[in-house]
Amino acid sequence: CGIVGYVGPQPALEVVVDGLKRLEYRGYDSAGVAVLADGRMDTEKRAGKLANLKAALSEAPRSADGIGIGHTRWATHGAPTDVNAHPHVDNDNRVAVIHNGIIENFASLRLELEERGCKFSSETDTEVAAHLLGEEVKEQGDDLAAAMRAVCRRLEGAFTLVAMHAGDPDLVVAARRNSPLVVGRGDGENFLASDVAAFIAHTRDAVELGQDQVVELRRDSVAVTDYDGNPAPVREYHVDWDASAAEKGGYDYFMLKEIVEQPQAVADTLLGRVAVDGTLTLDEMRLAPSELREIEKIVIIACGTSYHAGLIAKYAIEHWCRVPCEVEVASEFRYRDPILNRQTMVIAISQSGESMDTLMAVRYAREQRARVLAICNVNGSTIPRESDGVLYTHAGPEVGVAATKTFLTQLVACYLIGLYLAQVRNTKFGDEINAVIEQLANMPEQVERVLGTVGPVRDLARSLADSGTVLFLGRHVGYPVALEGALKLKELAYMHAEAFAAGELKHGPIALIEDGLPVVVVVPSREGRGVLHDKIVSNIQEIRARGARTIVIAEEGDESVRPFADELIEIPAVPTLLQPIVSSIPMQVFACELALAKGNDVDQPRNLAKSVTVE
Ligand code: G6P
Repeated sequence: CGIVGYVGPQPALEVVVDGLKRLEYRGYDSAGVAVLADGRMDTEKRAGKLANLKAALSEAPRSADGIGIGHTRWATHGAPTDVNAHPHVDNDNRVAVIHNGIIENFASLRLELEERGCKFSSETDTEVAAHLLGEEVKEQGDDLAAAMRAVCRRLEGAFTLVAMHAGDPDLVVAARRNSPLVVGRGDGENFLASDVAAFIAHTRDAVELGQDQVVELRRDSVAVTDYDGNPAPVREYHVDWDASAAEKGGYDYFMLKEIVEQPQAVADTLLGRVAVDGTLTLDEMRLAPSELREIEKIVIIACGTSYHAGLIAKYAIEHWCRVPCEVEVASEFRYRDPILNRQTMVIAISQSGESMDTLMAVRYAREQRARVLAICNVNGSTIPRESDGVLYTHAGPEVGVAATKTFLTQLVACYLIGLYLAQVRNTKFGDEINAVIEQLANMPEQVERVLGTVGPVRDLARSLADSGTVLFLGRHVGYPVALEGALKLKELAYMHAEAFAAGELKHGPIALIEDGLPVVVVVPSREGRGVLHDKIVSNIQEIRARGARTIVIAEEGDESVRPFADELIEIPAVPTLLQPIVSSIPMQVFACELALAKGNDVDQPRNLAKSVTVE
């Protein structure tokens, strides 16, 4: 899941291992490196965390020429063992390869290679690429780049490959299809990585590689071609954050820092988009008002936490714009033959811009001629590049695997789109729209206020560390917030957690309620929707009567819930549709603190990856 490559005068092993360290947040379960030492290929790989690899490297200190590649692997084909970790080498130990993604035709290629006498030592699909490359390099007179192009033409599926060859100590070659890959341009040295965080301490000049491109990285040059060897266009850019943005800055965990950064992140997402008179400017959207007026249906596709942002967006968009809006998990979308046409706007929400499920859904939608708008945090990533327009969330790098500040800023981006559409389409809610825009502009302050009051949530979370299950209930936009609260608890605390629409409770889940069971309830704001509020107050009484320990998140001054709340968490009063921005924060703090109380690593929860580049 993380890739690093280096050629230059620095000690390659250190540069590569340090780069892998900075990519740890992406999630992985084994790690490995390959360097050249006096023209000999030297690999080391270990299951588990980077510390295991580092220990192995220090047992047998090695010299290295200024070239190396490294990988953190999130297992797909074959368990996370030492042997299955990358790099993989060919039988002559002349070529080393690392790989992200899945080689779909690996089984037939493996058979073919075995028939030709290749010996396999792992269960991975990657090893096929190593042997193919080993054979091809010999055929191509030791030309690794030509060999890589030939191999890529034979591989099917989504893959990014990085290789080096014992015969050329000044060359790393990589090929990119789907999985992310960026070049860092230094002075007399060059870098390759799955994202800029790996080399940001060395250079902020980056080159983005496109689909089906092969790059030859030498100390003094970077050459990019397509799979047939024709020079290919690339986009160069300067990274506008520095290394400190991707460091913990005094916090024990990135997640803690990222939770605290939320007021700034929300402000940065709003920056330059809301004029004093309430006019919205969303230039990067690249969809003209005339196009937006033609839209007859909106379909939101996303995964995980981003999907929950989409669920919330539906309530806002349908209410403000009066356009039907569907929300679907990206992995299901294209397989059910959805109805799309030119009048459909697909909104793809992805923090990383690399989730394969979402990317595939985007491609499918564009094939069906839908207009695709991405909401994304990572500049220049694949999903915005392949979409018609984009709204960046500008939350800065998010390192913790569980999304926090990017979730809040995705909500802001969704609201901006909804409000902009309402303005452009001139819906009858003109006054309401203007009032909401004003409130939205005020959100950084409200987020700051919530953060100032979450101390008791931490104490509460620690007291619940031994619970077996926590349930979450919500209504209206509070329902997706409850879903997100439960997801966070699963991701971080490895606890059984489930969320229900509060009204659905009586149709089954209420049977789960027993004495002392913690149930977190998100109470809608009282503004404009009294009925909704009163209904949930009844739901709280129903579960309390059956023994639940009620943990109620409600707006300050809402005295009607106090008598039924075993624990009351107060949030600022904001318009109903915007409430998720404030009500999500106690959920984040709750899950994070509970996980810490259980001794879990909240930045790198087990089995999870920050960006999942396989389907
Ligand atoms: C992974 C992460 C989740 C994230 C999801 C979608 O599964 O573990 O935290 O919400 O991917 O990621 P994206 O980058 O597309 O928003």
